[in-house]
Amino acid sequence: MSTAGPFFNYRKARRDRVLRKMAAMRAPMTSDCNQDAARAHGSSLQRLVGRHSTATLIIGDSETMERIEADALVSDPPYGIGHRHSGKLGAAYAGAKVKAHTDRVIGDDKPFDPAMWLGYPIVILWGADHYAQRLPHGRWLTWDKLGGKESWDSFGDVEHAWQNRQGAARIFRYLWKGMCQGAGEDKGTKRTHPTQKPVCVMRWCLDIAKVPIGATVLDPYMGSGTTGVACVRTGRNFIGIERDAAHYKTACDRIAHELDGALL
Ligand SMILES: C[S@@+](CC[C@H](N)C(=O)[O-])C[C@H]1O[C@@H](n2cnc3c(N)ncnc32)[C@H](O)[C@@H]1O
Repeated sequence: MSTAGPFFNYRKARRDRVLRKMAAMRAPMTSDCNQDAARAHGSSLQRLVGRHSTATLIIGDSETMERIEADALVSDPPYGIGHRHSGKLGAAYAGAKVKAHTDRVIGDDKPFDPAMWLGYPIVILWGADHYAQRLPHGRWLTWDKLGGKESWDSFGDVEHAWQNRQGAARIFRYLWKGMCQGAGEDKGTKRTHPTQKPVCVMRWCLDIAKVPIGATVLDPYMGSGTTGVACVRTGRNFIGIERDAAHYKTACDRIAHELDGALL
């Protein structure tokens, strides 16, 4: 019996898979409302497609775009705590390797107004304790960044998100502080954004808010794309908007990598 057969089949299957993957990654930009919204503001978007999820990544200013339809809005907006004090970066930047051109987060020098994002069926906004007075009643989701350990520095030990529903406040414990990272899917992650969140935190808040699998999640302040990575890993669709070109590229690369995995 010849050994060429199985070898040939294996190679062909592999080549076909790569070709299918490449075709999907080149999926045409469709003429939908996202595309129109992006064009209208001189922005462009990338449409990435995987087996279980799609991701639409837009470069531009989310606050000047037309409303984009989505089932849930999940975001970590800039809210004014990272501005420079005495020439030093604020506490939010501790631990991240920040490039010179991205050492400040766009929009992080002024108070955040959440009003335009409150009309979505499910809303989760991180950092909401900094603009709580502008939010209606809801519930609090808290991330314990020490993973249950004792405090060891002068930086904040927790971050809070607000969700637009009544209910019990909940806590998630995961160590992610300075150089320290807990075990699990985020272990060893190289942080490229000064306020990058762990994927497991975004996964947790999507699940606890009961954002359905297959739903479309909008993040209008996408940063390095962590919400998008969590969506792709959990079978949700994602629309992300980012103003900063360097962070936009990071998000595109991270999410393309995830969808690449999903296509295999
Ligand atoms: C707090 S960071 C989000 C970090 C993200 N959670 C992550 O894990 O990488 C907020 C991001 O919003 C972006 N941004 C600020 N104003 C914006 C706007 N009007 N439209 C789009 N992006 C904006 C900033 O450039 C920054 O990258």
